[in-house]
Amino acid sequence: MTPSYVVHDGFRLPKSFERELFASALQYQAGAGDIFVSAYPKCGTTWTQNIVYLLLHDGVPLGAGDRLADLFPHLEEVGRQFVESLAAPRCIKTHLPFEITPYNAHARYLYLARNPFDCAVSFFHHTRGFPQHYDFAEGTFAEFFECFLVGNVDFGDYFDNLVSWYARRNDDNVLFLTYEAMKRDARAAIAGIGGFLGRGAEGNSQLLESVLRHSRFDSMRRNQQRWSSRRLHGMPDFIRRGVVGDWENQFTAEQAGRLLEKFLIRAGATDLESLWPEVLDQARALSRG
Ligand code: A3P
Repeated sequence: MTPSYVVHDGFRLPKSFERELFASALQYQAGAGDIFVSAYPKCGTTWTQNIVYLLLHDGVPLGAGDRLADLFPHLEEVGRQFVESLAAPRCIKTHLPFEITPYNAHARYLYLARNPFDCAVSFFHHTRGFPQHYDFAEGTFAEFFECFLVGNVDFGDYFDNLVSWYARRNDDNVLFLTYEAMKRDARAAIAGIGGFLGRGAEGNSQLLESVLRHSRFDSMRRNQQRWSSRRLHGMPDFIRRGVVGDWENQFTAEQAGRLLEKFLIRAGATDLESLWPEVLDQARALSRG
């Protein structure tokens, strides 16, 4: 069994996405003040969006009836016109690899990377939890893993996305973050994001504390409905476990070895390994049995 998708020019999308809107999204002309939060699916997009939203709104959280997806929409889902109608600064979510992300040298891009092992597990739960869109309610991790490994999932290959953005990590208008570093020290990550956005949270402890409080896992978990899109009905909860290392409960030794091998091939001569040394060591240990 494999999940179902719609395919646009070889690019897989959730079935609920409209091809025309997706095509228009690729034509969006990024503006100088735009703020993009970009990540491969399940790598901490929503968490980062919420942090950016809070920083731009003096630490005041979304209201009970608000949806992040309206105020900080997903470009590929809503299309070009919707994004053009946003007030400045436009805040835009995307899962596109760098090469096809609308680019403006004066726009800002926050990129979230998460180790592929935890990403695969989170993506599996997401795909299974959204039956009307993926037809995968009965799917197993083993089945999903095979699709993930070859990039036959929505928004394409994990490594194509990561490698494309990793190459831009030192650009002035790119802030490259990892989920694991945010988990380790959310306060430092928020201060860094505030600095990048020119919202100096570092010297403003009240703002920093408020952003921290309202972006904590438990706080976001209590408010699940705020993170799902009104346009896509029956979405699974985006706030599930929020930990590093959940993958070890799910992967077999053989799967760990195969994903590790792909990681090393795709990292090539880069120092991509330095992002997650512990996770890769655990994968090595597990795969050796
Ligand atoms: P898990 O499924 O491993 O729990 P995205 O927003 O890109 O879809 O990513 C979803 C993942 O981020 C989920 O991972 C979710 O639980 C986690 N997440 C969301 N908010 C979080 C938070 N405040 N702290 C830690 N993890 C969070």
